[in-house]
Amino acid sequence: MIDVRIAVREIGLAGYLVRGLGGRQGERARARRRNERRRGVLVGIVALGVAALLGGWALEASAQRLHYAKPQNVENGEKVYKGGCIACHGADGKGAPMSSTVFLRPDTFPDFTDCAGTTPEPDGNWKAAIVHGGPSRGLSQIMPAFGDLLTDEQINDVIAYMRGFCRNVHHYPLGELNLPRALVTEKAFPENEIVVSTAASASGAPAWTTDVIDERTSIDARTQLETDVPVNYADQGGKWTEGLGDITLAVKREMFSSLRTGSILSLQGGILLPTGDSNRGFGAGTTQFEPFAAFDQLFKENTFLQTQLGADLPVDPSVSPRSMFWRATVGQAIGQDHMLGRLYSPMVEFLAVRPFQPGASTNWDVLPEMQVTVSRRQHVRMGVGVREPFTNTSGRTPQVVFYFLWDRADGKLWNGWR
Ligand code: HEC
Repeated sequence: MIDVRIAVREIGLAGYLVRGLGGRQGERARARRRNERRRGVLVGIVALGVAALLGGWALEASAQRLHYAKPQNVENGEKVYKGGCIACHGADGKGAPMSSTVFLRPDTFPDFTDCAGTTPEPDGNWKAAIVHGGPSRGLSQIMPAFGDLLTDEQINDVIAYMRGFCRNVHHYPLGELNLPRALVTEKAFPENEIVVSTAASASGAPAWTTDVIDERTSIDARTQLETDVPVNYADQGGKWTEGLGDITLAVKREMFSSLRTGSILSLQGGILLPTGDSNRGFGAGTTQFEPFAAFDQLFKENTFLQTQLGADLPVDPSVSPRSMFWRATVGQAIGQDHMLGRLYSPMVEFLAVRPFQPGASTNWDVLPEMQVTVSRRQHVRMGVGVREPFTNTSGRTPQVVFYFLWDRADGKLWNGWR
C-alpha cells in the first residue's frame, strides 16, 4: 500500500491528492517536504514558461489573435462574399431568404448583424469554420470548407468584410480580448458562461469547495451579471460535514478596451450574502462587499497578463476582518494548426491577500496551471492547477483547483463535440 502511495506521489500532481491521506509524520519531514514541494513548484513554473515560449514559437502562435501578414482588404472581401457566401448568408448577413435556401437552419446559424453575438467571437473561430468547414468546429456540415477554394488572403479579407455587418462594433469588447480563464484571478472580459470550479485541500483534513458560477451578458455585451453559489464539504474532527457557503451576486462593467493596444479594463461590484454557516467555517458570518478592478493585457504572440485588485469589506469587521487582494496571471495561448485547432494555455497565478489590520502580513500563493479546450467548438474548456502557499504557510495547505466551463453563447453543452 505504502509503495503504491509513493509511486503515485512520484507522478506529481496526483501525489498532492494522495499525500493528504498519508497519516502522521514528523514535523521535520513535513518541513522538508514543504521545501521540496516549493522547489517542485518553482521548477514547474520555469518548465511551463519555457514550454510556452518554445510552443509559441514553434506554432507561430498568432486565435487568441490571428496574425495578418497583409492588412485585410474589405473590398476584396466583398467580392469573395458575393461570390461564395451570399447564397446562404444573404446580402445583409442575416441569412438568405428562407425561400431561396433549402437547408434546415441549425439554431446556431449566425446573424452577422447581431453585434452582441458576433463581437465576442474572435476572428480565429470564424476562420477555422471557413477554412475547414462547419464540422471542424462541431457546426453544421452545410457550412462548406473553403480552405482549398480560397487563398489565405481571400479568407482574411472576407472576414474583414463580414465584420462590417455589425454596425456598432466599437461599443463592444472584441472576442480576442477574452483571455483564457484563470483558476482564481477574475478576467476583465464580460463572460457568458457557466463554470463549475472546485478547490480541494491537498494535505491535512480533506475539505473541498465547489463553486457553481453563472455569468451572463443579458443586459448588453459590456455588462456581466454573476451569481456564485459555493458548496463546502469538510472532514471536521473526523466528522464529514457539508453546507452552503456565502453566495455572491455581482455586476461587472467593461470600462475600456482596445484590440490595437491589446488592453481591457473592467470594474466589478459584488455583494457576498452571509448564507454560509460561519460556525463551521463555511462563511464570513456577515455581509461583505467586494469591489475590484480587472485589467488584462494581450501581447503580440498571444502572451498575456491578467491583473485584479480589490477588497473584501465585511459590514461587521469584528466578525471577519477587512482585507485587500491583488492577483496577477501570466500565460501563453498556444494553438494547433496556426491557432485554428485545440488551444492550450499554460498560466501561472500570483495571489496575495492582506488584512487591513496594522502589522498584518501578506499571504502569498503561487498557482501554476493549464487550460485546455475540450470540445471541438472550444465552448467547453477545462483548467487545472495546484495552489501553493508561499508565505505564512502555517495552517494553509496546498490545494488542487480545477474547473469545467461552458461558453453558453456558442451553443448547447452537448453540441459541438464531434
Ligand atoms: C451552403 C450554404 C453556405 C455557404 C455557401 C456558406 N456558408 Fe457559412 N454557414 C452556413 C451555415 C448553415 C452555418 C451555420 C453552421 C452552424 O451553426 O452549425 C454557417 C456558419 C458560418 C460562420 C459561423 C461560424 C461560427 O463560428 O459560428 C461563418 C464565419 C461563415 N459561415 C462564413 C462563411 C463564408 C465566409 C462563406 C463564403 C466564403 C460561407 N460561410 C459560405 C452555410 C453556408
